[in-house]
Amino acid sequence: MMTLIGASLLLAACGNDSASKDGSSAEPDAAQLAEQKCMGCHGKNLEGASAPDLTKIGAEKSEDEIHDIIKNGTKGGMPSGLVNDAEAKELAKWLAEKK
Ligand code: HEC
Repeated sequence: MMTLIGASLLLAACGNDSASKDGSSAEPDAAQLAEQKCMGCHGKNLEGASAPDLTKIGAEKSEDEIHDIIKNGTKGGMPSGLVNDAEAKELAKWLAEKK
């Protein structure tokens, strides 16, 4: 009888902090993004300030509409280009669940 133990330990030392710190390829965290990029105008709980309340935005607008607003801004004062594409998607998904 031969033993087959041993080969499985070779795979242990791969990628730990590969894409975690540069902010471009890491998975965006919507809540943290909102805090950094949105709450200055929308209020620290998104309850509205100089900009509208977003706490029930998902009841009014679809994820696509929200994504479009985040990406392109509005004539009413919502700036465009605050976040990159992946971040805009993540935020839209997160906001669309607020209803
Ligand atoms: C410089 C201030 C400012 C910042 C920063 C800002 N917004 Fe806005 N936002 C506005 C204003 C003003 C409006 C209202 C625009 C209008 O009525 O046309 C708005 C509108 C919106 C709307 C539509 C609300 C509605 O009821 O139709 C969404 C969604 C939104 N913002 C999301 C975001 C997100 C997400 C961020 C962060 C990435 C963000 N905003 C950052 C000013 C801002």
